[in-house]
Amino acid sequence: MNRGTGDYESFYEALAQRYHGSRYGGRYGRLFRALHHACLADLLLRRAPGRVLEVACGTGHTTELLDSNGIDYVACDLTQAMLAQSDARLGNRGRLVRANALALPFGTATFDNVVSTRFLHLFDAEHQRAMLAEMIRVLRPGGRLIVDFDNFASRWILALPHLLYNLLAYRRLAPDTHYNRIGATERMLAVLGLDDLRSEGVGGYLLVIPAMFSAPLAYRAGRALRPLRCLTEQFVTTGIKR
Ligand SMILES: C[S@@+](CC[C@H](N)C(=O)[O-])C[C@H]1O[C@@H](n2cnc3c(N)ncnc32)[C@H](O)[C@@H]1O
Repeated sequence: MNRGTGDYESFYEALAQRYHGSRYGGRYGRLFRALHHACLADLLLRRAPGRVLEVACGTGHTTELLDSNGIDYVACDLTQAMLAQSDARLGNRGRLVRANALALPFGTATFDNVVSTRFLHLFDAEHQRAMLAEMIRVLRPGGRLIVDFDNFASRWILALPHLLYNLLAYRRLAPDTHYNRIGATERMLAVLGLDDLRSEGVGGYLLVIPAMFSAPLAYRAGRALRPLRCLTEQFVTTGIKR
């Protein structure tokens, strides 16, 4: 299913208050958040990050990482209510802009890094390509794109949790998720103008088992899964603009 951008705005308007708690408040959510932040920090903080754009920031899961590391960032999202939640989480000092990822209101080659998390899986390949082209347009040559996708390789592991979640939370059968293959995604990004592409895995519902016993143990298991991309819930892909 592809809702289109207009439908997503009303969907997230209604979900805004519950979004952060439902995604990042539970045992697995907290673990995913820590693993995701560790992966993003490795990519963003290894060298001076310069000016960073975050696309579809939602309630600020990744924005908090940018903000707490003193990064010069702008974060944007389509949905005002999600931005309001994000701003509250950032102590009302968030540098937040309402924007549609299909037409970013920023000049060409203005950012050193563009990051977008847990967003592109909402869209089919055609919309993903259009949004990625926009993100790459605003990136300066030599700048880095960091984006993530739901992992096609582990779709069978994800199918049952996604089905239960959609039935219980939304009383619907079909999830919004589009799964990406790592190879095809890297090829698409190469065509759109990126070099030095690489991807690594993040999260995985199998981690729920060690998480029942110990959060630090589950975190160590999650770090170990990063290269085992066939088992992870998502993969993060990064590349450098030509
Ligand atoms: C699943 S949430 C992800 C939020 C956050 N990035 C995270 O990692 O938790 C998806 C977000 O995409 C936003 N969104 C949906 N369509 C959009 C569009 N066309 N342009 C910008 N943001 C959009 C929604 O408002 C929502 O905040």
